[in-house]
Amino acid sequence: MENLVVLSGAGVSAESGISTFRDSGGLWEQYRIEEVATPEAWEANFELVLDFYNMRRKNVLEVQPNQAHYEIAELEKEYNVHVITQNIDDLHERAGSKNVLHLHGEILLAKSSNPATLHVNEDYYPVDKGLIEKGDTCSNGFQLRPHVVWFGEPVPNLSIAEEIVGKADILLVIGTSLNVYPAANLLYFSKPSCKIYLIDPNQVNVSHDLDVKIIREKATDGMKTFRNLLK
Ligand code: APR
Repeated sequence: MENLVVLSGAGVSAESGISTFRDSGGLWEQYRIEEVATPEAWEANFELVLDFYNMRRKNVLEVQPNQAHYEIAELEKEYNVHVITQNIDDLHERAGSKNVLHLHGEILLAKSSNPATLHVNEDYYPVDKGLIEKGDTCSNGFQLRPHVVWFGEPVPNLSIAEEIVGKADILLVIGTSLNVYPAANLLYFSKPSCKIYLIDPNQVNVSHDLDVKIIREKATDGMKTFRNLLK
């Protein structure tokens, strides 16, 4: 079976009802990143950060995977599929994808804010009540925080992701503006023979060094076009 790697971003979950970040009306138009998604924001006002992710987690728990998530899961019948996602929702998993690698964390998991274990020896706790509240602590008494990679924090799994992309025969980029590094760099780890496709209803800037087949459609329609191109 050929190796097919999917690199997904917020756009793949847009049709499920989860806001993207940089579209008009996106999250970064409603919130200042510096106030809710950086280590400094946590130091300055951790309760505001907890509220921001509690609101986003509530949204994730209320929505369902869309047809694009299901079509991506279906690809596993014909290809050796790895999904590398920048998304912190669990919609790929709920749609049936088996190999999902989260680059920016998972909103349904919490971790300790203990500086001694952050980014080195992290334990993850399921956020089973849907909320992380002030006073929810790890076994060492440190406040729990969302298992989400904030701007300026190291990206776990990056080297694994680079290795996976390096083995791809087909790379599908879907629903990402490729604005955020190092995730956006992953395309350049593909081998010369890798066939690259990009699904997005809007223009996405990709280097001319790469031969990318653009499918200028939203995720659900684009996945149908993609499947037909593979036949
Ligand atoms: N189908 C497919 N793509 C869509 C759809 C749709 N229905 N709607 C919007 N898009 C596209 C947009 O055109 C845009 O290119 O999805 C992309 C979303 O881009 P961003 O909002 O920048 O999201 P993403 O690329 O995932 O952001 C990367 O930035 O803020 C951080 O950690 C956060 O993981 C996130 C990272």
